[in-house]
Amino acid sequence: METLPVDNVQDFTSLKDISQQYISPEIMPGDQVSIHESFEIPVIDMGKLTTDHVGYQNEMAKLYQASKEWGFFQLINHGATTAIEKMKVVVEDFFKLPLEQKMVYAHQPNGVEGYGHVFAAPSKILQWGDMLFLTSLPVSQRNLSLWPSTPATFRSTCDEYSLEMDKISKGLIRVMATTLGVNPEILSSMYEDGTQAIRMNYYPPANENEKVTHPKAHRDTTGITLLVQINEVNGLEIKKDNEWVLVKPIPGAIIINIGDIMEVMSNGEYSSIEHRTIVNFQKQRLSIAAFHSPNLSTKIGPLPNLSTKNGAKFKTIEREEYTRMLLTRKIGDEDILDQVKIN
Ligand code: SIN
Ligand code: FE2
Repeated sequence: METLPVDNVQDFTSLKDISQQYISPEIMPGDQVSIHESFEIPVIDMGKLTTDHVGYQNEMAKLYQASKEWGFFQLINHGATTAIEKMKVVVEDFFKLPLEQKMVYAHQPNGVEGYGHVFAAPSKILQWGDMLFLTSLPVSQRNLSLWPSTPATFRSTCDEYSLEMDKISKGLIRVMATTLGVNPEILSSMYEDGTQAIRMNYYPPANENEKVTHPKAHRDTTGITLLVQINEVNGLEIKKDNEWVLVKPIPGAIIINIGDIMEVMSNGEYSSIEHRTIVNFQKQRLSIAAFHSPNLSTKIGPLPNLSTKNGAKFKTIEREEYTRMLLTRKIGDEDILDQVKIN
C-alpha cells in the first residue's frame, strides 16, 4: 500500500495547520452528505442463534438476509460486555497520553503496526484520525514491543478482548456457514488459528476546521470485522442501495460486517459493503475494530459446494497472493474484489 509521511491529527490545533492532504478535491466543503434516514441496519440477537432456542429459525433467516443485503448488522446479547467495557477504558486512556508517550509505539517506516495515522484504503486524501494497529492472533504473531505498557492494564485487557472477539467471530462463522448451506466444520476449520488484528481509532472533533472533508469510503478486506464504538458518537455510514445510511449506535452492541474474503468464500452470496467514517465537528469519536480472517494456509476462493451449485464467481488464490495484492494496492486499483472476480 502506498503510504505518505503524515502528521498526527490529534496535534492539529488550528485551520492553518491542516495539510491540503486532508481536503478532498472531489467532495467540496459544505457538500451535503445524503443519508437515508428511514433505513436502520438489522439487529441480530446472538442468544437466539442456538438450535434449541425457539427463535432460532427466524434469527438465522435474519442473519442470512442481513449478510446478503446489508453486509452489516448490529449484534446484541453476545456475552462480551465486560471485556468490551474494560477495553474501552484502556483505549481511551491510551489516546489521552501525551504524544511523546504514544510515539514510543509509532509505526516503523513502511510498517502498518503500531501508533500513527489512520489508513483504511489507499487514498491521496488522508483520513481525519489516528490509530493504534496491532496484530493480535495467532498469539505467536504478536509484536509486544508495540503493545503499550501504559496504561498498565492495556496488554492484559487487550489480550482478553482479543480472545473474546475471536470466540464471537468463530460462533458467527459457524452460523454463517449453516445459513449458506455449507458444513460449518469446513468453514470453521479455516478459521482455526485464524488471523486477527485490532485497530483502535481516534477521531478528534474537527471543530472550526470545516474544510476537513469526509474520508474516502472503503470495503474491509477481511473475513469479518467486529466493531465497537466508544461513547456511541455517530460517525459510521454504510452504502445501501446507493444511499449512505448512518449506523445509529446501539449501546453495548457490536457492529459486524462482511469483508471481501467472506464475500468471495460465499461465492458472492454475502456482500462486502462500502463504508466510511464521517467527520464529527463537535465530538471526538473512538472505535475499536477487530479484523478476522482465515488461517494463513487457507486458499481464498468460493467454498466448493457453492461454486459447484452456482458456478464460481471468483478465482481461487493462495493466501500469500491475496496478501501481496493488499500490500501492493495503488490508488485507483484498491478494489480487491474486482481483481479476483470472474467476469
Ligand atoms: C473503518 O471501517 O475503517 C472504521 C470504522 C469506524 O471507526 O467506525
Ligand atoms: Fe472498515
